[in-house]
Amino acid sequence: MTTPTLLIVDDEKTTREGLRAALEDKFDVYVAEDAQSAWQLLEKEPFAVLLTDLRMAGEDGLKLIKRAKSLQKPPVCILMTAYGSEDVAVQAMKEGADDYISKGKLQIDELELRIRRALQRQNLETENQQLHQRLEKKFGVENIIGDAPAMKEVFETIQAVAPTKATVLITGESGTGKELVAKAIHQNSPRARGPMVTVNCAALPATLLESELFGAERGAYTGAHERRIGRIEQAQGGTLFLDEIGEIDATTQVKLLRFLGERTFERLGSSKTLSADVRLVTATNKDLMALVKEGKFREDLYYRLAVVPIHLPPLRERALDIPALATAFLKEFAEDNGKPVQSLSTEAMELLLKYHWPGNVRELRAAIEHAVVLCRGGQITGRDLPPAVRTPQSVYTEQATREQLSTGRLSMKDAAKQLLIHALQETNGNRTLAAKKLNISRRTLHRRLHEFGLEEF
Ligand SMILES: Nc1ncnc2c1ncn2[C@@H]1O[C@H](COP(=O)(O)OP(=O)(O)OP(=O)(O)O)[C@@H](O)[C@H]1O
Ligand SMILES: [Mg+2]
Repeated sequence: MTTPTLLIVDDEKTTREGLRAALEDKFDVYVAEDAQSAWQLLEKEPFAVLLTDLRMAGEDGLKLIKRAKSLQKPPVCILMTAYGSEDVAVQAMKEGADDYISKGKLQIDELELRIRRALQRQNLETENQQLHQRLEKKFGVENIIGDAPAMKEVFETIQAVAPTKATVLITGESGTGKELVAKAIHQNSPRARGPMVTVNCAALPATLLESELFGAERGAYTGAHERRIGRIEQAQGGTLFLDEIGEIDATTQVKLLRFLGERTFERLGSSKTLSADVRLVTATNKDLMALVKEGKFREDLYYRLAVVPIHLPPLRERALDIPALATAFLKEFAEDNGKPVQSLSTEAMELLLKYHWPGNVRELRAAIEHAVVLCRGGQITGRDLPPAVRTPQSVYTEQATREQLSTGRLSMKDAAKQLLIHALQETNGNRTLAAKKLNISRRTLHRRLHEFGLEEF
């Protein structure tokens, strides 16, 4: 590592030179006697650290710090003052100073330590920012794959809602990409620099969930040994993503409702009212409206959460997207595993298109990973796919279809398709017999085969 550059600004020669002598071994030291000459140096090249006196003839240390912090590569700024008072410290922090030290008690060891600490913090921040930029790429809307009309609508809604503070409710079966959408909303919002805090509401028992969200004072409940900052507070300035929101109990529902209305809350065991600037995004794979009707979910909360609803259709209803998704996953896993796999055979693609994907995109992703790992050449064949995908017949039993339909897990259209496939399998592809089995005319059968792209069956 190179020696960090340090600029010392002080109008008193003895202090200036004293500090230079003391710090010269550790840093690459420059000195200036006032803000103006300091500024000339700062403008020329980036400094790692600026250590400046407060009171100087001309511009004071606070103003210099403020200006230095506006540089493209701002230095770590430490203010020294002989007039140590809380007020100046607060002001200094407001102007962007990283630390504050009183000259009266100045010890070189301590000064060096403080400089090092401030430098370390800044490095961490830069790293965080870089990480953030990388994540931004990873979770931008461009990473949500899909051309199906239903997905276009999803993209449009994300783009429209991201810049606002509106509460979003994301619904869809397991594995349809709800978390991905939540991240894209955060990343495309003005809060992207702030935190995104995720809580899985199903993962915690009711009492713990409450303190997890709102925080708790020491002794608020048995086992609360120390103060706990809630997730809402942690999400200050950012986004709070509550996954599986259908699982929250009645008490937490009331508290959340209040938070959404007034933006205020209390930690458990405290009467002090706190507020937080947080954008709420929630998700569920349950039918929340049905829970409302059953009296398990508050209707008023439902409407507060679903200010902007986004529904992710199951993968089987957007089979159009399967090729693009499969290809993207193939590329990803081929790279990850260092395998020269480049494409999918027609047979493999057909199997993917025919399968009904109960686990949605997550299952497709896992299937492609499986196939890439097993694949021996440059092309994935039907044999490389997981057994469930290879032999979809098992899931197309009439019984299973009716069950899925009755529990609302299957749309009418998909059920019709599955029954059709089932009938064709049973009759070995005999159109006349299949039509008879389904109690429809041959003509209707042909129309449906065409509709579902099953002519080749
Ligand atoms: N449209 C998409 N494009 C690319 N990847 C996707 C898409 N949808 C989902 N995925 C991927 O599929 C996996 C599952 O997505 P995600 O975790 O967002 O689903 P979920 O709806 O939150 O599921 P669950 O209800 O089980 O929590 C993730 O690896 C995600 O990156
Ligand atoms: Mg999820």
